[in-house]
Amino acid sequence: MTTLIPNFVISVTVIGIVCVICFTWSHVKGAPWVPTRMKKVREMLTLTNIQSDEVLYDLGCGDGRFTVAAARKYHAKAVGIEINFVFYLWCQILITILGLRKRVKIIYGDFFKLDLSNADVVICYLLQETNDKLEEKLIQELKPTARVVSNSFMFMRLNVINEDPDKKIFVYSV
Ligand SMILES: C[S@@+](CC[C@H](N)C(=O)[O-])C[C@H]1O[C@@H](n2cnc3c(N)ncnc32)[C@H](O)[C@@H]1O
Repeated sequence: MTTLIPNFVISVTVIGIVCVICFTWSHVKGAPWVPTRMKKVREMLTLTNIQSDEVLYDLGCGDGRFTVAAARKYHAKAVGIEINFVFYLWCQILITILGLRKRVKIIYGDFFKLDLSNADVVICYLLQETNDKLEEKLIQELKPTARVVSNSFMFMRLNVINEDPDKKIFVYSV
């Protein structure tokens, strides 16, 4: 029976199952993948006033758009942390093709378990309950000069230093 099923059908089914598991897992661990629109990426980076010698961390970097924009447009260094293996692979390929491997590093893992103390700018586009869980870690680990930029969701205990409420962009210090 198996020999009657073309190999590509098996391959497509396996790839589909792996993708469903990866996407479901990332939702469980913090947030589903919903990309920030590129216009908003630029607005968020501008509101943080990111400088060329600074290090940006994107907590859940998805397809890598913040890390690429930070490196290309602002000449910053960027670290993307991603728990979805499909996106981790995508980002590795993307930064290789774009020649950004010296300035962008992509880590496969859970941002709750990684040290964030090297970050100057932290990007969050997660969920409100994930922000609530993350807040104490940011307070404990980030430098006083670091800025946290959140898309759509807020941090209740961090200090607002800049914001665009209409666009739901919030910039904080710890
Ligand atoms: C709403 S998307 C934001 C993607 C990207 N930062 C952007 O703004 O376009 C959230 C991302 O976080 C990832 N993610 C969720 N929980 C995570 C965790 N605990 N560690 C690392 N990545 C996580 C998801 O896989 C997803 O790609």
